[in-house]
Amino acid sequence: MRKKIAAANWKMNTTLAEAESLLQTMQGFAPKLDENHIAVFGIPFPYLSLAGEKLGEKPFHFIAAQNCSDKASGAYTGEVSVAMLQSVGVRYVILGHSERREYQQEGNALLAAKTDAVLQGGLTPIFCCGESLSIREAGTQDAFVQKQIEESLFHLDAQQIKQVVIAYEPIWAIGTGKTASSAQAQEMHAHLRSVFAKQYGDDVAAEISILYGGSVKGANAAELFGQPDVDGGLVGGASLNAEEFLTIMNAL
Ligand code: PGA
Repeated sequence: MRKKIAAANWKMNTTLAEAESLLQTMQGFAPKLDENHIAVFGIPFPYLSLAGEKLGEKPFHFIAAQNCSDKASGAYTGEVSVAMLQSVGVRYVILGHSERREYQQEGNALLAAKTDAVLQGGLTPIFCCGESLSIREAGTQDAFVQKQIEESLFHLDAQQIKQVVIAYEPIWAIGTGKTASSAQAQEMHAHLRSVFAKQYGDDVAAEISILYGGSVKGANAAELFGQPDVDGGLVGGASLNAEEFLTIMNAL
């Protein structure tokens, strides 16, 4: 069974004290999670080690980094390797968020290399994809997102692709308060699953968790997650509010 996932993406937010307080509150939710319903916290690099300690004892809560290097080690000032992340208890890595694609010029080829590094390190990539407003208005979003997936992930074999979590995040819905409708989300998720089915077969495609991201909040999570191909969410703004994120975890 593919996992249902509530993933928080704190982005470049919180002080240490705020991070501690948020993590503390989230721990209370642990009893409601299980092997197939998990929570993932994508928190800033400086607090990953602390989060590993805080959440380490709690089952079905996992820590994610928001980025990593595609290189193993060496003279790459300011970069963070997969081995470093693994050594402090990180289990997931968000890759290819639209903000990194836009501000750090991360492209499909680099993201293919980062995906390889994460998988080789035994961690799980949360691979983000999604179209801009102009692409959506032109009606070419299916082909655009498919290309992101093909160019960054289709070199993987069937065993590897099953380890990847996909996050579909239409850029026009990120941080704008303008959520994709549950029908729009379902339509794209079904398309992506068919893309995986064509390449890897139906059984493999059925095992891939596809999350929706873009203005997910407590009030819309249940309807979005109720769609047959929406396996949870990657949540930015609302994940910084403990009450909101608890409601979102509950919607799993
Ligand atoms: P948002 O961000 O929930 O604030 O729209 C989602 C994301 O960027 O992952």
